[in-house]
Amino acid sequence: MRHLVIGIGELAHLDDGTTGLIYGNQMNDEEKLISKNLGIFIENGVISKIRPDEELIDEYAPSIKKNLQKSFELINLSDILVTNAGGNAVIPGLIDGHTHLIWSGDRSNEISLRMKGMSYREISELGGGIKHTVNETRNSNDELLTKLGEIRLKEALRNGTTAIEAKSGYGLSTESELRLTSIMNDLSMNQKNPSIDITWMGAHDTPPKIAGKEISKREYIEEIINIQLPEIVEQGYARNCDVFCEPGWFNIEETERIIDASSKEGLSTRLHIDEFSDGQGAELAAKKSVETADHALYSSEEGREKMSKANVIQGFLPGAPYTMGLDKWPPINYCIENNQPWTISTDFNPNCRILSLPSIASICVQRLGINPLATLCAASRNAGESVVHRTEKQHGMIKEGYVANINILNGEKWQGWCLQQGTSPFKATILEGTPVVHT
Ligand code: NIG
Ligand code: FE
Repeated sequence: MRHLVIGIGELAHLDDGTTGLIYGNQMNDEEKLISKNLGIFIENGVISKIRPDEELIDEYAPSIKKNLQKSFELINLSDILVTNAGGNAVIPGLIDGHTHLIWSGDRSNEISLRMKGMSYREISELGGGIKHTVNETRNSNDELLTKLGEIRLKEALRNGTTAIEAKSGYGLSTESELRLTSIMNDLSMNQKNPSIDITWMGAHDTPPKIAGKEISKREYIEEIINIQLPEIVEQGYARNCDVFCEPGWFNIEETERIIDASSKEGLSTRLHIDEFSDGQGAELAAKKSVETADHALYSSEEGREKMSKANVIQGFLPGAPYTMGLDKWPPINYCIENNQPWTISTDFNPNCRILSLPSIASICVQRLGINPLATLCAASRNAGESVVHRTEKQHGMIKEGYVANINILNGEKWQGWCLQQGTSPFKATILEGTPVVHT
């Protein structure tokens, strides 16, 4: 399939001639990362040429020249599809590097407990939190969980997300963890959905009591390492392993055992660290050179420095303190000043029901004062370095050879991508070369 995108106003392609992670003030460099009057030629879902509009129209669709509208339109010619962006700004497809996509049930009542002063940890100790969702999810059939996944992926796509990372972790038994990774794999095979990079998170918590019987953490870790892990590896859907490394859940030694075992089996490591306290998760993340260390809210500056030296991405999730009503925010400007690599993601889960990266970005830009272009680099180009696309091609920039994942805004200025809550800032999203118009 051939597809030509023309009529682009500002194009935030994020390509400064380098590839891989982008750091520090390079993330703010408008001159290098944004251009004007360029068109994009796409072949078989991949960006094949980026050239001045006129040149591409003359070469691929000269017949449309006379009748081009000044607003967004799709033009179907016999040998090529043309999208006229109508002067609107264009940015790369967004990449959500941290989600808990598949679960069922409703924990809305936890807000009332929180307002009585209970913490996340206290609610969990009373049988709420993750354990509650595990029970609900185990009692739901595949059909319901798949349907919920479809609805959530559609909402993410409407908000410009073209690829996500998604974790299991609401099964917490071998059988139910395998079921969740399998549902995620089916969802990712559907080309109409964003691509999913699958993470096994058997170590999200210890399982809830079944028929009054509780399994100890020690026993559960043995099960994770000796039974769950080999089966997950044999199934072959998960690329990554994640552990909730936090005092009260999995401590440093336990986390280290689990990730040593999983990396021996070829899984790549992501971690939840230092979400509620400095549990030295950053030091472990650095020691193990994990791909991304997420939350990283209470990590020390020394810990961050160590992670940066080990090229560990800090995966910030401002939706977590936001939804929990905490006034504690990730030190993003500190990371920019110190050239440390970072991303932002939604952390979509029953406690943080946000599927929109533009909403998360608006917290960063409008609440924390982060540069909107740096925030965009974090949510697309940098996230593309930790989330593998199902085609195994590169993504996250608008660059020749990259997956054709592209967002067309509802306005002329690129900054509009991160300035609103509640509604999507996008008119259309091109998903692997195919346009999806948002109504
Ligand atoms: O990243 N903190 C651990 N996991 C999720 C929350 C999961 C839940 O509350 O169900 C997180 O915030
Ligand atoms: Fe999480």
